[in-house]
Amino acid sequence: MRIGIIGSGSLGSVLGGLLIEAGFNTIMVERDEDEVKLVTENGFWLEGVSGERTIRPNIVSLNSEIPSVDLAIVVVKSYDTRDATQTLRNILAPDGVVLTLQNGIGNYEILENAFPGKVLLGTTTMGAMTLAPGRFRHTGFGLTTFGEPDGQIRDRTLRVKDALERMNGGPVSLVVNATGCVWSKLVVNAAINAPATLLRLRNGGLPLTEAGRDLIHSVVEECLKVARARKIELIFDDPEKHVIDVCNGTASNINSMFQDILAGRKTEIDFINGALAREAESLGLTAPVNRTLALMVKMLEGSRDIQVNPPN
Ligand code: PAF
Repeated sequence: MRIGIIGSGSLGSVLGGLLIEAGFNTIMVERDEDEVKLVTENGFWLEGVSGERTIRPNIVSLNSEIPSVDLAIVVVKSYDTRDATQTLRNILAPDGVVLTLQNGIGNYEILENAFPGKVLLGTTTMGAMTLAPGRFRHTGFGLTTFGEPDGQIRDRTLRVKDALERMNGGPVSLVVNATGCVWSKLVVNAAINAPATLLRLRNGGLPLTEAGRDLIHSVVEECLKVARARKIELIFDDPEKHVIDVCNGTASNINSMFQDILAGRKTEIDFINGALAREAESLGLTAPVNRTLALMVKMLEGSRDIQVNPPN
């Protein structure tokens, strides 16, 4: 099976490295031409829980001639998913399959619209971070959960499961409720990322105060209201407790949105709290806490170049 990794950031590089080491013919695709040049010349450095080594991948930029792949794993930031469909058109074999493991909601819909019937969806708790250009840390093995949108198990679903298992990144769970898994991860990201970013907290700081727990409660309640209206079944019995457990289990983490802000990058807010608020509105509901969080993170993204003059 030839595998394409669409998006060679931190998670993409960990996935790519592990797949190459597992013996898969793997092609990594990256939009940043400088990164492609650097990694083509020197390989990339991967350290962390899976060891320390240099990986020398086949890495190509978006517009190169790319040999076709049987499985394309999409891990670009959500705001780049639409552009990734163009790359996928050049790279996906006629009977190829796309798997999105991205944060937030809306990615599956964009991909499915471009490749009807070919897209699987899921989440992963594998941890990865960028240290510098061409240097990544594999911060944790984690559970990868995925499935077909209609819950069926096909030959292709089993082939993808086999590839993910042979990758050795952690346990792999094939589920009938893949949409519920993606929404369950959305709840975690909605309740942690924007609040901790705006408050400049590590994940563990959020539930330390009653006000923080109240904020988590409000975000989660709005998510549950929308999920119920969409008839999406979440995978956790008590999503609010799960969010607090994740905060405590990743207490020292600077969440991915906060990392984006610190690095001066755009965030995935439009696909997390922003998407949830839009979903609510399209159903005739409201999600004011999520909407406000989304507006505030957008303000933070936009305020990089604003000079603040202290009041007299
Ligand atoms: O986006 C993230 O950083 C992670 O999904 C999580 C679970 C919030 C941990 O930091």
